[in-house]
Amino acid sequence: MSSRKIIVSNRLPVTIQQQENDLIFNPSAGGLATGLGSIYKEKNNIWLGWPGFYNYENQQVGNITKELKKQNLSPVFLTKEDVEDYYEGFSNKVIWPLFHYFSDYARFESHFWEAYRRVNQTFCDEIVKIATEEDVIWVHDYQLLLLPKLIRSRLPKASIGFFQHIPFPSFEIFRLLPWREEILEGFLGADLIGFHTYDDMRHFLSSVSRILGFPHQMGEIKVQGRIVAVDSFPMGIDYDKFFHASSSKETLAKSKDYKKILSPQKVILSIDRLDYSKGIKHRLNAFDLFLEKYPAYIGKVSLILIVVPSRAKVDKYQQLKEEIDTIVGRIEGKYSQMDWAPIHYFYRSFDFHSLSALYSNAEVAMITPLRDGMNLVCKEFIASKKTQEGVLILSEMAGAAKELSEAILVNPHDVHQLIEAMRVALEMPAKEQKERISAMQKTIKRYSVHQWVSLFMNQLLNVKKKQQEFNMKLISSNGLIKIKNDYSKAEKRILFLDYDGTLVGFNKNPLAVAPDDGLIKILKNLTSDKKNKVVIISGRDKNILEKWLGELELDIIAEHGVWLKENTKEWEMIDELDQSWKGHIKHVLEMYVDRTPGSFIEEKDFSLAWHYRSADTEFGEMRARDLISNVSYLILNMDLQMMEGNKVIEIKNRDVNKGKAARKWLQKDSYDFVLAIGDDVTDEDTFQNMPESAHTLKVGLIASKAKCNIKSFKEVRDMLSAFSN
Ligand code: UDP
Ligand code: G6P
Repeated sequence: MSSRKIIVSNRLPVTIQQQENDLIFNPSAGGLATGLGSIYKEKNNIWLGWPGFYNYENQQVGNITKELKKQNLSPVFLTKEDVEDYYEGFSNKVIWPLFHYFSDYARFESHFWEAYRRVNQTFCDEIVKIATEEDVIWVHDYQLLLLPKLIRSRLPKASIGFFQHIPFPSFEIFRLLPWREEILEGFLGADLIGFHTYDDMRHFLSSVSRILGFPHQMGEIKVQGRIVAVDSFPMGIDYDKFFHASSSKETLAKSKDYKKILSPQKVILSIDRLDYSKGIKHRLNAFDLFLEKYPAYIGKVSLILIVVPSRAKVDKYQQLKEEIDTIVGRIEGKYSQMDWAPIHYFYRSFDFHSLSALYSNAEVAMITPLRDGMNLVCKEFIASKKTQEGVLILSEMAGAAKELSEAILVNPHDVHQLIEAMRVALEMPAKEQKERISAMQKTIKRYSVHQWVSLFMNQLLNVKKKQQEFNMKLISSNGLIKIKNDYSKAEKRILFLDYDGTLVGFNKNPLAVAPDDGLIKILKNLTSDKKNKVVIISGRDKNILEKWLGELELDIIAEHGVWLKENTKEWEMIDELDQSWKGHIKHVLEMYVDRTPGSFIEEKDFSLAWHYRSADTEFGEMRARDLISNVSYLILNMDLQMMEGNKVIEIKNRDVNKGKAARKWLQKDSYDFVLAIGDDVTDEDTFQNMPESAHTLKVGLIASKAKCNIKSFKEVRDMLSAFSN
């Protein structure tokens, strides 16, 4: 994609700190900032975000902005209150704990939510100052979940991608969030939504379907006529950078110091931001018990524990820091010797070459988060192993575990497994180490951060193309004018109009969509013109259609073509049809009704329909798939067919369909204007049986045999009203 990329995240990859009168620019911590580091530097691209600082004087704003601009960065300034309520509050006391399954830590306070909305709006205002609809806007992470929708409302045609770097929890956790609908709607403003793993994606789709009622198919959701794609893209690292750094002059110099102090001891390396999701306490306790169980390792193995300061003003983080200090003190007191320390504890961050030296020298890395979206540290460790010697112990709960199956995978809550993993790692033969590291290096090299960016961007481009293809089929205002002109010129017209989804919207209760005054007026206007023949062509049973529309001067095709009625004449059946099959199939459908709350059977003269619009969306879809496979087996070799409509499955005689019935009307007379409109799979038969010159319209953005698509029943009503003007 050659257009400009605008990256948006809460935190810029550079964080500003005030030291006396000077402003210091430091690299930011965390996977998002380090992972995307190489992308924003490309010409013309921009990264927009918070520089991590709020006590600025007004005159500093200009200087900071100028300084950052040189690095393609654009600051969004936050006030002290924003930082407390939006960043520390909603982002890190609500979403972060909840999405990492620490629901007890979540504090659902409305002033946090208000600040979250306000700051997401501030980000949007800043973006629209610099962005156009030609740019690709890529929003990142959980602090900005409302932003895609906000941007969409200002730049409707923009290409908007969203990537979530943290897990998306199961529906049972997500549903606890008091603002769950608005949060999901925020996500859906994007064209493409990315997660690290398939599980996150699955959880998200499930919440969208169960909370907002939007079903999904092959990772696509239709939101107000727009396709939104959801996919998993495991984030990678800059493999070559870490691989080559391990033999660089700077790293080798640091390695020399490192070896001088630590050799011949073995090292288990632990690196994380200070965070309760990282499992640091569990790891420390396991190390304590490891030394207790295998005392031969005392004096021979040390744990290098690097804890990078993070979110220091949030109480749970302060508490965790104190707990870690206490546990480290306890272990040191228990095992330390004059010439050996069990733990080397650092509460600070390290520069790139120091990290590279630690990664390339440590015998074992122990990365055991309780929950982690991806975890880049483990990938950096593997990439730094030029000699291919070393062992990775990795938590199953890290997104990275899905790719790194050659690591020693552990459940971080199982202390015995952690202890054994340490022993196995320290005793693993060199040959096996090489085999495992080599396999993991291949994976990480192939799915580097560059590959990640290009996969995401290509997919975004594909979604945009797909949207355009649909939009091209969407009837234009010229197309509508052409239909109206043809209508005006014609002397003899026939209009086939489906009912549900075409003339009225959907309702959980199918009996709640009787024609309203507006619709009656439209139909009366159409039927009062003697040049018109109006045919309602529906799957509903004849009695309800008669009740609702019998007073009007129109023709009706009911039950998908079983029953036909010409205006004032009596109902007649299309052919003599068998209905002896109904008893058995009805019994099967009743079992589905019992097992699917909210579903029901509609019995028509020659068909049975199982409706599941009021059932839980996802559950209903699941049962529908099950029903289709069971019933299609049952009706093999019978003269029956099964038709899937909008939240309904119908079983009926094989050679009855709307197309066959519509043909009867077309054969009776000749017309110089033919129009057919429908929204359902069953309307495809109508479209197929229309003459070449007919105007055929499919309601909704769904692939169809109709010539054009039209957005919704409202546009259909507008078009039909315009015929009479
Ligand atoms: N990191 C760093 N300095 C340190 C320790 C870590 O720059 O002293 C970097 C590390 O290289 C990695 C990132 O911080 O790229 C941590 O990302 P990860 O995905 O592992 O965890 P997150 O902090 O995003 O939860
Ligand atoms: C994780 C999050 C990032 C965040 C980083 C550091 O990696 O996914 O969005 O920037 O942690 O956290 P902080 O609160 O310091 O930005």
